[in-house]
Amino acid sequence: MTILTDIDREHLRRALALAEGGRGRVSPNPLVGAVVVRDGEVIGEGFHAALGELHGERAALEDCRARGEDPRGATLYVTLEPCAHQGRQPPCVEAILAAGIGRVVIASDDPSEKAAGRGPGILRDGGVAIETAAGAEAAAARLLNQPFRKHSRTGLPHVVLKLAMSLDGQTTTAAGDSPWISGERSRELVHRWRGEHDAIAAGVGTVLADDPLLTAREPDARQPRRVVFDSRARLPLDSRLVGSLEQSPLTVVAGPEAPPARVAALREAGVEVFLGDSFDPGEQIGTALAMLGRRGVTSLFLEGGKTLAGAFAAAGQIDESRTFIAPMLLGPPDPQDRSPFVNQRLTSGERTPAVARLEALATTTETVGADTLLTARFKEW
Ligand SMILES: NC(=O)c1ccc[n+]([C@@H]2O[C@H](COP(=O)([O-])OP(=O)(O)OC[C@H]3O[C@@H](n4cnc5c(N)ncnc54)[C@H](OP(=O)(O)O)[C@@H]3O)[C@@H](O)[C@H]2O)c1
Repeated sequence: MTILTDIDREHLRRALALAEGGRGRVSPNPLVGAVVVRDGEVIGEGFHAALGELHGERAALEDCRARGEDPRGATLYVTLEPCAHQGRQPPCVEAILAAGIGRVVIASDDPSEKAAGRGPGILRDGGVAIETAAGAEAAAARLLNQPFRKHSRTGLPHVVLKLAMSLDGQTTTAAGDSPWISGERSRELVHRWRGEHDAIAAGVGTVLADDPLLTAREPDARQPRRVVFDSRARLPLDSRLVGSLEQSPLTVVAGPEAPPARVAALREAGVEVFLGDSFDPGEQIGTALAMLGRRGVTSLFLEGGKTLAGAFAAAGQIDESRTFIAPMLLGPPDPQDRSPFVNQRLTSGERTPAVARLEALATTTETVGADTLLTARFKEW
């Protein structure tokens, strides 16, 4: 391990901030930022801006050239170990060696099979001094790429649960009332988060109650795949989800009890139906996540409702939660519920998830409009 100077750490923090520029645009690739420094002066900066475009290191070296600067002998600060494999872009190590960079300071490792130390090894063999960060910058670099890291290590998407609740812990409003619990600023944030994930999931209970679109409404946002957990394939053909397939693809996760005619009708309408073979909610979630991971979904934004969120928690499949607490009381839950179908099987006890306690590793709180947002991290990859 290397002890970096305060100046090294400052450049790494700048590289971390630059990496954010690609959020929502580079998946399944990682976010990467890079800074080139020669004789104490920044001569180039860059980040991986979109899938298929230059990696952060090459973008920073290009920036040197655009500024008329020669990176020979300079130090390259980068948030992730440089790649050594040919993907959508040629290997970054080639560009670093060709540019004559003298020293590379790396904030975090790349745990994917193709990488895992190969790039730094090649650079070292090529005479480049390699230093790796520890402490706050290394932790920030790992947190930056949780979806990439989890997907690389497990093949599963990183799962972020979003919930909005009242001060008395309700997540559902009464029939006829507005479905919104969180305020406008919070809902804007939710739309931004949707665009930052590869897929959005909801339970069929929420779909039957609210008929949501589950699209990202921010201009230029990448539209995530929408996923409905719906073991009996009850998703109505005239729902807004089915009616908006031209905006983004829709996957229904159904189970062995789904009537074949319903499955066929959904497929006919253009919906992808994934048929799992288990009746167990936790197993259904596990196989659905593995299926999504195989399709390159590295991040899943779980928008509820409470039944599906509970099943994910019981299955230990939540990596992070973002809970809005709205300054209102909603009274006891509506005994009629917003949909008569939603908890049909919960009452029979069949789907009641096992009680699970998942303790957070770290939490933060902030004010969003009139709401309080509590973010909790349960796992680190
Ligand atoms: N406050 C919030 O943040 C928030 C967010 C979303 C929704 N909501 C509200 O929540 C209400 C609906 O919530 P809900 O809890 O009744 O429904 P839900 O969680 O959206 O959906 C539950 C249904 O999903 C299906 N499902 C399929 N696979 C499952 C699995 N592996 N594990 C668990 N369930 C699975 C089950 O029906 P099948 O057996 O038929 O498959 C289950 O009854 C709505 O009123 C909505 O407005 C609030």
